[in-house]
Amino acid sequence: MKKTQIITTVFEYNSIDELSLEEQELVRNAKEAALRSYSPYSKFSVGAAILLENKDIIQGNNQENSAYPSGLCAERVAMFYANSKYPDVPVKTIAITARTNGQFSENPIPPCGSCRQVLLETEERFNQPIKLILFGEKKIKIVKTIKEMLPLYFEKEMLDE
Ligand code: THU
Repeated sequence: MKKTQIITTVFEYNSIDELSLEEQELVRNAKEAALRSYSPYSKFSVGAAILLENKDIIQGNNQENSAYPSGLCAERVAMFYANSKYPDVPVKTIAITARTNGQFSENPIPPCGSCRQVLLETEERFNQPIKLILFGEKKIKIVKTIKEMLPLYFEKEMLDE
């Protein structure tokens, strides 16, 4: 028997002023995106903003549907759009925000499992870590690579086994 431990390092901040100007700008974009979310069913508006290597910022938000499973999370809307518009440009960072009852959440909201899998594929595709900024009004968390958010992940090489 061999025991291994997988460690995730989370950097926590109490104020947006502690982030770099580039990170602050990305959070601003994610907040802006959340305000345009189409979420009449959950009333939970999520905004994502992606910073690309070419300095472009791509925004996305959750898009819901009366046939509930047909909707899509903000992170995947943003990431699929980034990859469809710039298939050859690596992704550097993604910021995520969430809003309910007319206010941004106090605590950071982490991406769901399916979104982690999609973000991870982009990280693998460009062989470059993607920084994750999870914004909350009272706390901000940063994780330096998606792999740390999804241990024991499924990857394309497994399709050949
Ligand atoms: N949602 C996201 O956009 N991202 C996540 O990572 C979690 C959940 C959306 C999906 C749905 O529109 C609403 O939040 C409530 O689950």
